[in-house]
Amino acid sequence: CGIVGYLGNREAYPVLIKGLKRLEYRGYDSAGVALINSNDDLNVYKTKGKVDDLENFCSDKDITGKVGIAHTRWATHGEPSSTNAHPHYSESKKLAIIHNGIIENYAEIKKNLIAEGVEFRSETDTEVLIQLIEFIEIKKNLDLLSAVQVALKQVIGAYAIAILDKNNPHQIIAARKQSPLVVGIGKDNQEFFLGSDASPIVEFTDQVVYLEDGNIAVLRLGEPLKVVDIHNVDLNPEVKTVDIALGQIEKGGFPHFMLKEIFEQPECLTNCLRGRISLDKQQVTLSAIIDYKKQLLSAKRIIIVACGTSWHAALIGKQMIETYCRIPVEVEYASEFRYRNPVVTSDDVVIAISQSGETADTLAAVKLAKEKGAFIYGVCNAIGSSIPRATDTGTYIHVGPEIGVASTKAFTGQVTVLTLLALCIAREKNTICDEDYKCIIKGLCEIPDKIREVLQENDRIAELSQTFTYARNFLYLGRGFSYPVALEGALKLKEISYIHAEGYPAAEMKHGPIALIDSDMPCVVIATHNEMYEKILSNIQEVKARKGRVIALVTKGDDTISKIADEVIELPETLECLEPLIATIPLQLLAYHVAVCKGKNVDQPRNLAKSVTVE
Ligand code: G6P
Repeated sequence: CGIVGYLGNREAYPVLIKGLKRLEYRGYDSAGVALINSNDDLNVYKTKGKVDDLENFCSDKDITGKVGIAHTRWATHGEPSSTNAHPHYSESKKLAIIHNGIIENYAEIKKNLIAEGVEFRSETDTEVLIQLIEFIEIKKNLDLLSAVQVALKQVIGAYAIAILDKNNPHQIIAARKQSPLVVGIGKDNQEFFLGSDASPIVEFTDQVVYLEDGNIAVLRLGEPLKVVDIHNVDLNPEVKTVDIALGQIEKGGFPHFMLKEIFEQPECLTNCLRGRISLDKQQVTLSAIIDYKKQLLSAKRIIIVACGTSWHAALIGKQMIETYCRIPVEVEYASEFRYRNPVVTSDDVVIAISQSGETADTLAAVKLAKEKGAFIYGVCNAIGSSIPRATDTGTYIHVGPEIGVASTKAFTGQVTVLTLLALCIAREKNTICDEDYKCIIKGLCEIPDKIREVLQENDRIAELSQTFTYARNFLYLGRGFSYPVALEGALKLKEISYIHAEGYPAAEMKHGPIALIDSDMPCVVIATHNEMYEKILSNIQEVKARKGRVIALVTKGDDTISKIADEVIELPETLECLEPLIATIPLQLLAYHVAVCKGKNVDQPRNLAKSVTVE
């Protein structure tokens, strides 16, 4: 979900709408805005659907006012509908709130408020919170800030909230716990902005404060930003300068963010490698390894926690680290790990991988592992987000903001950083031979150009994608380093084209999925020239013998598979351990084009959110 807020001297509505559009990438199913006009009327407008629908809805409404809050909602409690959309009014309609996160004990609070005679308009946990705040304000005769503090003491859950009060039209109160919130500060405190991340803010100011858990911010026109905690202790917010160019969050001529981000990968990986790899000195340097050498090298075991695409990157990281560092690695879904009372000790290093740095399950896994004494290393993209702040150290992937909901460049960035990490640890531990170390460094430096080569296949992949829009199922097969690539290829297709797809280790096919193969079943097989080649060739023959349709990813010059497969996509040769960085690209393009051919909304697929800050 997305949060935007504005307080200043310009009209708030255009700023808020623009901000919501910048946050569209996070995925949502309804949108709304609240504004206080010059007569101190508090107007709330909201609709099911997209920001465009909200704009249509508002076209004949009073959208004036220099203060406002706006929200895109992804349903947690209550179906997507205009009633359940945010902002929510308090009972007297004096207050309006927007909220990201979940109030876990909302049912109990609601029951108590109903017993006190409070009437509810929606099914959401958010309305419960604002009703509670107003109830406390009136009952205890408190000002809004104090009422918020009392209310938040009663609340169990996660939140980023922003509240408007029509009796205080030059103020916004905001608070965060486990759900990100950023305040942008305009010149001389004459303007304030609020965002669930910095993207709606950067075009107006580069001065921001990332609120911490437990912070309550009071934005008042002309006054410095005030940040207090729940007990009203004054905190000193650290103002940071953000460095995100606007072009980085716009489409730059591409029809979709996803395609833009797929095409950005050569440049992104160059940025990711910059300063960390030296071809001259044939050396990899990560500052985290220099600063925390002892902790990282003494790991008896590494546990990687992540979700979604980041979890697939983790599987590749596992193979890299086990192969070259000889440290056992376990890969865990963060959501499973956190609820299992896992065995974690101070001999473990836990690596948390997250593009957004905000995924609730991954963050909770980090906190749990920390409590159990593990040393925590983060691999994240969003600078200043919650996971990097909760870890002991880490490495940013530096691929720039990822807007398309389906992750692309973050995946290759994560795999690149995990490769660098494995190389560093292996070198320090002396578990890699000089030749392999240098060969991988050289190979990594060549990856951006090789990705450029693969991207030239875009038109052909677009064309062949048209042939496969009929499919209701897809199978993706790979072995070794390519197995996680198969999983990731299948996930991409599922996410944006809504075609059911499964990734499988190719040799496992005969233990089940082979039963599904018929002339309707497309099988994408990663069949590059490596040690597994002969085996994967047999797998392709098994598929063909059952009339399945094979799309094979092969190494350039392969003339064996091209004779058997229905479609062949050639890839430049690279080291086996680096193949995921190359082989993923055509699978991203395939998913993209199939979805486009099917007329799907690739940047904002239904039901998905970019950043899942709820469990
Ligand atoms: C969501 C996104 C996925 C992403 C996953 C993990 O489900 O739709 O694309 O892989 O979250 O996100 P993270 O930001 O932690 O990498």
